[in-house]
Amino acid sequence: MRDFPDFTNKSILITGGLGFIGSNLARSLADVGARVTVVDSLIPEYGGNLFNLRGYENRVRINIADIRDEFGMAYLVQGQDYLFNLAGQTSHLDSMKNPFVDLDINCRSQLFILEACRKHNPAIRIVYASTRQIYGRPDFLPVHEGHVLHPTDVNGINKMAGEWYHILYSNVYGLRTCALRLTNTYGPRMRVKDARQTFLGIWIKNLIKGERIEVWGDGLQVRDFNFVDDVTEAMLMAALSKQSNGQIYNLGSPERVNLKDLAELMIKVHGKGEYEVIPFPEDRRPIDIGDYYADYSKIRTALNWNPHLSLEAGLAGTLQYYYQFIREYL
Ligand SMILES: NC(=O)c1ccc[n+]([C@@H]2O[C@H](COP(=O)([O-])OP(=O)(O)OC[C@H]3O[C@@H](n4cnc5c(N)ncnc54)[C@H](O)[C@@H]3O)[C@@H](O)[C@H]2O)c1
Repeated sequence: MRDFPDFTNKSILITGGLGFIGSNLARSLADVGARVTVVDSLIPEYGGNLFNLRGYENRVRINIADIRDEFGMAYLVQGQDYLFNLAGQTSHLDSMKNPFVDLDINCRSQLFILEACRKHNPAIRIVYASTRQIYGRPDFLPVHEGHVLHPTDVNGINKMAGEWYHILYSNVYGLRTCALRLTNTYGPRMRVKDARQTFLGIWIKNLIKGERIEVWGDGLQVRDFNFVDDVTEAMLMAALSKQSNGQIYNLGSPERVNLKDLAELMIKVHGKGEYEVIPFPEDRRPIDIGDYYADYSKIRTALNWNPHLSLEAGLAGTLQYYYQFIREYL
């Protein structure tokens, strides 16, 4: 990943900073001498893990707090140059079982955060982690930013609202916000305990434990994947660009792969393993989005962002990490 000296000595707040993407971002920023504060609630079912910042305890201020705390957030945004807003409930299935928790975190709290910035720190630059989930089942492929939004689950609806609050606060109040619609992201520090964050997590755990990978559906669903360093690089580039104010960008990859081929690739990289294709569990089928891959030409043209790491190299690097540290993630 390239260096970002512009962030040296800058004050940075990362919500969800003990999670998968947030901790990778926090480490990169601390490495260039930024003053990083992370806010994370460490709710056990979510992706936060103190081990994600192991070795950085003296360089990153870790604040165990909940973004649902309006007054806490009003305090924390003050004096910050940048906010990377990544805290979220990420499980699609959990959002169907507990829709109000998802509403509070992914929707209502986003308004707290934006109101706090508007009142106490209107000069802050904000990057919001949105998701391809808000497109729902694609009407056409590849999906560009103009595709109609018709999410298939409660999480998608709340993330859509969270995203649009950010854009609204740019349009109406001139806050410097932008949103990146992430596709499937993987890499070191992802949650592998279960499939709450992504099915790839549990595939990695199963491979390492010598258990069979389950591919749900017919295995022919096509997806695109980004290695986490490519995603954090996009976030940093978006934060630095004036052009990104009020903008929404898809992330994506030129490599598209169906799930069966992905399982085979992972087994090849790992050197052994088995997979089976089984029907969707009943609760998953209605919220599945089928094939998805992004058209990410907007961010490529505007910010000159491109993903660098091939899927095979990214999977190898990810597996290496978990060979060493899997016990910290079980
Ligand atoms: N990983 C992906 O493939 C992916 C894809 C699309 C979008 N995203 C978005 O990127 C963001 C980061 O995702 P991630 O993959 O790193 O997931 P993650 O679960 O590892 O990180 C989210 C973090 O937010 C924290 N959090 C949740 N609720 C909180 C609350 N109420 N207060 C404070 N902290 C809270 C969690 O503890 C966790 O550490 C999320 O907003 C997610 O919707 C991720």
